[in-house]
This record gives sequence, C-alpha cells and structure tokens, in this order.
Amino acid sequence: IRDSKQQTSLWVAEYIVRRINDFRPSKDRPFVLGLPTGSSPELIYANLVDLYKKGRVSFKHVVTFNMDEYVGIPTSHPQSYHSFMFKHLFQHVDIPPSQIHIPSLENCDQYDDLIAKYGGIELFLCGVGSDGHIAFNEPASSLSSRTRIKTLTQDTIVANARFFDGNIDAVPKSAVTVGVKTVLDAREVVLIADGRGKAEAVKQAVEGSIGHTWTVTALQMHPKFIMAVDEAATEEL
Ligand code: GLP
Repeated sequence: IRDSKQQTSLWVAEYIVRRINDFRPSKDRPFVLGLPTGSSPELIYANLVDLYKKGRVSFKHVVTFNMDEYVGIPTSHPQSYHSFMFKHLFQHVDIPPSQIHIPSLENCDQYDDLIAKYGGIELFLCGVGSDGHIAFNEPASSLSSRTRIKTLTQDTIVANARFFDGNIDAVPKSAVTVGVKTVLDAREVVLIADGRGKAEAVKQAVEGSIGHTWTVTALQMHPKFIMAVDEAATEEL
C-alpha cells in the first residue's frame, strides 16, 4: 500500500524491472510477461519506458502476452488495446515485434497453448474492474476458464465509455480475454488498483469468499500473488 498511484506505479515498474533482470533467459525460456491495459497500468508503462531509457532494463529477451482485446473494432482503432500497448509501451522500448502477443478472434483458441510453448507466464500484471473482473472475465465467468470470447456486461460497457468520448454505443460489446485459469497459471500475479472506485473490488479480493461473482477472488488461491494499491483503494478493508 502506498499513498498515491504515482508511488504504487513506480514500485510496480521497479519490481518488474528487478524480476526481468534477475531472470536468466535462454533461447527456449525467455521472460514471459502478461500485460493489462486500462488507466491503472498507464503510469507503470511510463515508468518502464523511463527505466528503459535510463538503461536499467532491456526487453530484448521478454515475450509479452496481453490479457484482452475488444472484438469488433480494428487493431488500428485508437481505442483498441493493440493501439494502447504500442502507444504506451511497445513503440518506446526494444522489444522485437515477433515477441508481442495480443489475443484476437484468430489466435484465441491457440492462445493458452502458445503461452505454454514459451514455458508459461512468469509474471502476470493485472488490473481489476470495479465489479471485480480480471481481464474481461465478467461476473459469473468460470474460474477454470481459458482464452475465449466474452460478452461484456452493461457495467463494463458504461465504465469503458470514457475511452470512447462517453459514447456507450461506440463501446464494443464483446472481447477476447484470457481466462481466470490462464491468469492463475502464471507463476506470479501482480494486481494493481487505485482510487476509491476500486475499494470494493479490493475488499473482495482480500476478504471476499472465492467465487465467480467477483472473479478477482480466484487470486486468493494463487501461491504468489501481490496486490499493489494506493491508500484510497484500501478504504473498504
Ligand atoms: C477493463 C479491462 C481490464 C481492466 C479493467 C480496469 O474492463 N478489460 O483488463 O483491468 O477494465 O480498467 P481501468 O484500469 O481503466 O480501471
């Protein structure tokens, strides 16, 4: 817990850098990083870019798997998660494009197999929706789910309308998302949340019963799960 989102974001960026630098990659076993989009990780990515520019980290031996992507808008759309990732991280660092993976209708059936081919995800950075969803695993998603298409709930569509000039009709109605089990399979999960709006989700993640209503609660079963939150997000604890 840190006072502000700025402090939490710096802590997480430095933690990721430390994990990448401590890892001994080989040709068959790169550092595999799972990544989220949304407003929560923006500052983390800005810090990662900064640390890269200072020579503190290289992404040459990092393979990334994004957790979700909208269905129904082209990857070139400014609000696609593809565009988000290039804008905030990929275009500023030395990651080879062939090492970047973003789920899509085309690859979703093979996505978990592809992750396994790289030896599994070393660290999954993860945001959380205010209704407790991780990736786009909306309430009532199976806790053993893997990458697939999900219909978005009205709550999520309304919450994400802010990225589409407040126009609810412009928000895609479905997405491709990693499953809850895909996240649980990672060797380590770092969940980030900030602000009062995430306080109930944070409470459920820590104190709630494990269940599919708040899919974030599944992370309680993970042996190596870190939550990095600001003070405001802890208000309900
Ligand atoms: C979206 C994404 C999630 C993200 C969540 C929170 O629905 N699919 O991966 O964690 O929203 O987003 P934000 O960080 O903008 O609050």
